[in-house]
Amino acid sequence: MKLMLKGGRIIDPSQDIDETMDLLIEGGVVSKIAKNIPAPRGKAGGGAVVLDMEGKIVAPGLIDMHTHLREPGHEYKETILSGSLAALAGGFTAIACMANTKPVNDSRSVTEFILRQAACANLARIYPVAAVSINLEGGCLTEFADLKDAGAVAFSDDGKPVADSGLMRQALEYACSLSMPVLSHCEDRDLAGEGMMNEGFVSTELGLTGIPSISEDIMVSRDIELACYTGTSVHIAHVSTAGAVELIRNAKARGVKVTAETAPHYFTLTDEAIRTYSTDLKVYPPLRGIEDRNAVREGLRDGTIDSIASDHAPHSSIEKDVEFAYAAPGLIGLETSLGLSLALVDKGILTARQLIAIMSMNPARILNVPGGSLRKGELADVTVIDMERTWTVDMKTFRSQSRNCPFHGWALKGKAVMTIVGGAIKYRDNDPHL
Ligand code: DOR
Repeated sequence: MKLMLKGGRIIDPSQDIDETMDLLIEGGVVSKIAKNIPAPRGKAGGGAVVLDMEGKIVAPGLIDMHTHLREPGHEYKETILSGSLAALAGGFTAIACMANTKPVNDSRSVTEFILRQAACANLARIYPVAAVSINLEGGCLTEFADLKDAGAVAFSDDGKPVADSGLMRQALEYACSLSMPVLSHCEDRDLAGEGMMNEGFVSTELGLTGIPSISEDIMVSRDIELACYTGTSVHIAHVSTAGAVELIRNAKARGVKVTAETAPHYFTLTDEAIRTYSTDLKVYPPLRGIEDRNAVREGLRDGTIDSIASDHAPHSSIEKDVEFAYAAPGLIGLETSLGLSLALVDKGILTARQLIAIMSMNPARILNVPGGSLRKGELADVTVIDMERTWTVDMKTFRSQSRNCPFHGWALKGKAVMTIVGGAIKYRDNDPHL
């Protein structure tokens, strides 16, 4: 099928494009990007479906490099199918799913299972992230080469830190030899202890045990030094503290190959929100203080933080409708990440072009996967965004199976209105069939 996206504001940081143009898609790839492309004519499939994109942003498909799908094992929270539908509705054409499933994705059979389910769903692209250590136990490395061969794109014990520095060193070295990234969940569990929210004024007032920011910073520092010493690269997941931002900024300045991501809740909320005791706000790392939130915003603005990922972590009411101390950590974000991130553009912290780079080109480069560009010949993965569209977050309408969203009822401006994967329209706003 041929598809012509006409007259949209094409933003493609990979080609330094931000102007009104047409995009022609043929055979699932980008075939032309130019001003006033004449519509291909002809019968028998020769013509193109022409879609008017006036007033919309046409961007390379958004890539979420940090999602938790709960299949295999916890399909009552999320399946690969429901997570893919949520991704598309949120404007993501591809997502990388973490290894903390049940069983853990620490073997070829689990990686292959995920890819088979993704192929059956035939919706967003799914990139499995395999575990660093067997069963996420931090004792013994998984078979990196075999997992790569099976289709994994990265390694991570996310949800748990790799506490053993020797094992982390080995992981970085093996992954580097395979040109694969290690996505590090930075948390010193001895410092975090039994903490359930950020350690500070609010935790003291609420009487909830705190998690000090140093528990994140110390591990970010360790991973940076390991990458520096071994000449490898490391990716820091879900950055939440001002200290981590500063460490990454300094490391980049001295040439260490470190990349980083944060999630929308860290630049949107602070620990003040937990005064409601809502368990949907319990997340690891925890929501931090205002200085941290501002530092994360600044880190995105100045390029210290490369990517925004949802850290979509679905849980059911069984895990969430309990006392704060017992609630499972995590919140869902596939369907709200773009709207919350566009607020940074509205506030003038990021330009639209920076945001597209952060949500598309950069994650593609870090994960070393296709996409993140609308260059001729690239996969036609495209996200169409209406920046003016105001909408209210209503979790009753979510494609995700879970409802642990602290943003229910929020008014947001800016939304994905069409998500195209490999030249096929997989999501269209207000279309009940998609
Ligand atoms: O809050 C979190 N939830 N943080 C993690 O690192 C893991 C995640 C999950 O899997 O639920």
